[in-house]
Amino acid sequence: MKLFDVYPLNNIAITKAKGSYVWDENGVQYLDMYGGHAVISIGHTHPHWVSRIEDQLEQMAFYSNSIIIPIQQELAEKMGRISGKESYQLFLCNSGAEANENALKLASFHNGRKKIIAFTKSFHGRTSLAVAVTDNPSIVAPVNETDNVIFLPFNNEQALKDCFGAHGSEISSVIIEGIQGVGGINIAGDSFLQLIRQLCDDHGAVYIADSVQCGYGRTGQFFSHDHAGVNADIYTMAKGMGNGFPVGGILIAPHIQPKHGMLGTTFGGNQLACAAALAVLEVIEEEKLIENAKENGEYLMAQLKTIEVLQNVRGRGLMIGFDVPAELKELKKKLLFDFKIFTGEAKPNVIRLLPSLAVTRRQIDDFLESLQEAIDELKEEKNAEVSDTRLNGRTDNEVES
Ligand SMILES: Cc1ncc(COP(=O)(O)O)c(C=O)c1O
Repeated sequence: MKLFDVYPLNNIAITKAKGSYVWDENGVQYLDMYGGHAVISIGHTHPHWVSRIEDQLEQMAFYSNSIIIPIQQELAEKMGRISGKESYQLFLCNSGAEANENALKLASFHNGRKKIIAFTKSFHGRTSLAVAVTDNPSIVAPVNETDNVIFLPFNNEQALKDCFGAHGSEISSVIIEGIQGVGGINIAGDSFLQLIRQLCDDHGAVYIADSVQCGYGRTGQFFSHDHAGVNADIYTMAKGMGNGFPVGGILIAPHIQPKHGMLGTTFGGNQLACAAALAVLEVIEEEKLIENAKENGEYLMAQLKTIEVLQNVRGRGLMIGFDVPAELKELKKKLLFDFKIFTGEAKPNVIRLLPSLAVTRRQIDDFLESLQEAIDELKEEKNAEVSDTRLNGRTDNEVES
């Protein structure tokens, strides 16, 4: 049987991973500045995470949500304390798309409305409603198309006010990433998030903070929306939550009331997933990884800003992006194949850095050194190409004359 060929792949098979490094089948080591797409929060195969999962596996892996699962409550308490959202309620699921799907659905149950405001360049996942609020028509199938979603320009306060002015009583929810990831590391302005909070309050709409990529401590706060000093009604989470174990969830403000049967899932919140998620929070706390993300992120960004050719260096904590000029368009590939460093990208020309929150200053310095060398080599290659063309040009001219 063949695999369904939907992923453009790098021709590399990773067989071992530890901390911020991964190794391919030939034993070649790579520095992971991509965190397997922002998933690796505490470092690959962290020993505490491994032993927590192993211990749980020996006791039991799964029994459904028809019984009391004490480890879910343990997870909720720890998450409430570390995130500072103690009064919120936790619903567990398995992925980011599923978290957003549940959040949008819950908002609609809550206020009985249908319209959703989403923003340009958003990415919220690939399931039916999550993809409908994603600003990428190429991944929206005809069956996912709906008139219930209104796309507004990101960070445009006037457009948001106008929309609420015209449709306020119909808006069920506003969904926004605190920092757009797939869209290219675009930061939602503090005043924009404050305005969303205000308009949702004024009109009875639900503020959904998609924190799947920008949450879980990556930006130096538990949720990137915290930088704006606002509380969302629902936070959606996945990626860093399990450090590679598939687990997602939503944090729900206390005024949104549950009802039996309203939401549900077979696998969500299973014992094994909760053990992985608890291990992640324990390590985040023990190793002060949110502080590490803030400090090392600031350092990395400051250093990147000194590299002249990189444009619009931006981000928060360890969620950083920069634009690559056309003459360096091979930079990401060069970093991967010549310097053995994984980075992320966003179309058309953004490099995204999403390393583990445990990345060290030394690893960042190694990355910066390689980045500078890769840029220098690309420039040299470019210059050689130009002089080759000139030389060839001259020869042709000489032949002609
Ligand atoms: C902001 C955001 N929301 C949702 C998702 C979807 O998460 P998943 O792939 O786990 O369904 C992603 C994935 O990249 C994301 O970046």
